[in-house]
Amino acid sequence: MKVSVIGCGYLGAVHAACMARLGHEVVGIDVDERKVAALREGRAPFYEPGLPELLEEVAATGRLTFSTEMADAAGAAVHFICVGTPQSHGEFRADLSYVDAATSALTPFLQAGDVVAGKSTVPVGTAERLAASLEATGATLVWNPEFLREGFAVQDTLHPDRLVYGLPTDDDGVTTPAGEKARAVLDEVYATPLAAGTPLVVTDRATAQLVKVAANSFLATKISFINAMAELCEATGADVTRLADAIGYDPRIGRRFLNAGLGFGGGCLPKDIRAFMARAGELGVSDALGFLREIDSINMRRRVRMVDLAREVCHGSIVGRRVAVLGAAFKPDSDDVRDSPALSVAAQMQLQGAHVTVTDPKAIENARAKWPDLRFAATALEAAEEADVVLLATEWPEYRDLDPDELAAVVNRKAILDGRNVLDPARWRAAGWTYRALGRP
Ligand code: UDX
Repeated sequence: MKVSVIGCGYLGAVHAACMARLGHEVVGIDVDERKVAALREGRAPFYEPGLPELLEEVAATGRLTFSTEMADAAGAAVHFICVGTPQSHGEFRADLSYVDAATSALTPFLQAGDVVAGKSTVPVGTAERLAASLEATGATLVWNPEFLREGFAVQDTLHPDRLVYGLPTDDDGVTTPAGEKARAVLDEVYATPLAAGTPLVVTDRATAQLVKVAANSFLATKISFINAMAELCEATGADVTRLADAIGYDPRIGRRFLNAGLGFGGGCLPKDIRAFMARAGELGVSDALGFLREIDSINMRRRVRMVDLAREVCHGSIVGRRVAVLGAAFKPDSDDVRDSPALSVAAQMQLQGAHVTVTDPKAIENARAKWPDLRFAATALEAAEEADVVLLATEWPEYRDLDPDELAAVVNRKAILDGRNVLDPARWRAAGWTYRALGRP
């Protein structure tokens, strides 16, 4: 099947490569010439495990091309909208300018019967508005949210937990004939994962748009719940990691996404819960999502608490102290620094007078572009040279596996802050370190 993918960022580039891998003939379109040039050469424009290999594999088939010209999307049976929906400047609402621009640029090239499948995370109601703008073309707009996690994006796209189709419905809630046709087209697009038994939820467009933000809100809630428990643990001398293990054995709760620490960041969770609150307000149901404000506050408090903890181990002041921050990406296996808790804490400490050196295996370039005033080092040992305190902020495997004795040889003072609760306190203390963490004695 001929497929176009509009927007080749973290979502679109992976989606395009995976669609080609599934056997489709794919054109990826992006306005960013640098991104398109890299992808044309088979290079991933960002760090995502498995993507370079996949790009190489599909390049050999000739089924994957990239272009900056929207006209090259013409003739595709399905057009996936994969552009970003960042937080609007100065407010909680999602900025839909990229979605609107992509859709209107695509409109002149649409033919009757084409399927336009929205993948971007949007406020509920956006699909209906876009559908109205496309009506004259005879194309059908469906919502087909994407749930991929950065770091596992290829795996999540080729072997998704579930597929969701949001189809147009009539006034009685019945899928329209055009919607049924679009469903058949999507079934063909996803024939391989469907044949492998991937669960499929077919619903209306409003539900499909809500599914994505509901899922991300639930995940954010789970993380903030355990971080709230960490605050209780700090007040009582309890250990949040053991608490999470113990409650996680209950299958109704589950241990995943119960890792306390610096909290959630990235290009999705923080802005999605805020956009969801803003949309609820517009719909007159802001009370329903009042709790998300608390989820956001708990999350942001962790960053403040971490700076306080650094101050405590530096005997009351971080002014003039050398701090090594291990990690800049918002999570391991990613070079994404959007709303990264690690960088946010590093920048706060720098602003409060500390001399901060940040390291990361993949994200230094992106981090430097965002915070040019911070110092950067290539390795943990270089970053930790003469440090008064070392903060593990992103749990990359090489930081989890650090040898306390090796690190001790380069620092000024043996003080480590475990921002992700991944180190063994007994091991570090036995090596003479002051070990502190969020929610652990
Ligand atoms: C998320 C959703 O998981 C994904 O389904 C959706 O499509 C996009 O948003 P992603 O942003 O890639 O994916 O990262 P995720 O793995 O969800 O982690 C988000 C943040 O939560 C990270 O900063 C991570 O460090 C933090 N986190 C995660 C915790 O603090 N504790 C946990 O237990 C899990």
